[in-house]
Amino acid sequence: MIVLKSPREIELMREAGRIVALTLAVLAEKAKEGVSTAQLEEWAEEVIRKNKAIPSFKGYRGYPASICVSVNEEVVHGIPSPKRILKEGDVVSIDVGAIYRGYHGDAAITIGIGRITEEAEKLIEVTKGALEAAISVAKAGNRLGDISWAIQSYAEKHGFNVVREYTGHGIGRYMHEEPQVPNVGTPGKGVLLKPGMTLALEPMVVAGSWEVEVLPDGWTVVTKDKSLAAHFEHTIAITDGDAEILTKL
Ligand code: MF3
Ligand code: CO
Repeated sequence: MIVLKSPREIELMREAGRIVALTLAVLAEKAKEGVSTAQLEEWAEEVIRKNKAIPSFKGYRGYPASICVSVNEEVVHGIPSPKRILKEGDVVSIDVGAIYRGYHGDAAITIGIGRITEEAEKLIEVTKGALEAAISVAKAGNRLGDISWAIQSYAEKHGFNVVREYTGHGIGRYMHEEPQVPNVGTPGKGVLLKPGMTLALEPMVVAGSWEVEVLPDGWTVVTKDKSLAAHFEHTIAITDGDAEILTKL
């Protein structure tokens, strides 16, 4: 069942989203060569808790941390570690989730550390563009497949591939609600979008093959061919007009 949110509920999700966006902005500033991914985790916890919110990932199905930091061929769900030190040229995806008064915000960005390759730069821009393309068709009257197709067609048009095994999702009182939002699909198909739907859209785009596998830690998703991956995510609300991005400052 897809739960539509009231204006009051969306107001709370706006605050959860603001806190997630603020956390990402702080981490983007602090993620430099020589910083460990565990340090990013500590800073994230600090920002989230100072803003009276709770990190939503910690303990979710046993996930051991408050954020995901996925470097280079890691696609999503990388676990922060004091041993993982960022270095020049790394492509780093940071995923943050927070709960404010019972409501969730979920967003991710990908950034480069120092100078990165031209291909890495393009991959980041295209993944961000795929999310923007998805948001621009996330309107009442359109269908879920329009969102999926916007992501897939944008990424493929620019020479990249989209990960199939992980999707976006409905979000609200729970981090994962119906519907699933695949990053590949067919325009005009799927659930009709309605005002009050709240969705986390999250394209995962790779430079090589879209096939992925999970590392022995049980969490870290990597590309099978070790090609670079990028991930952007926003939590949005469907309205009568353009979608509202909730995870923004
Ligand atoms: N943005 C991710 C998602 O929507 C974050 C979940 S990571 C987990 O699935 F560790 F909490 F599972
Ligand atoms: Co998500």
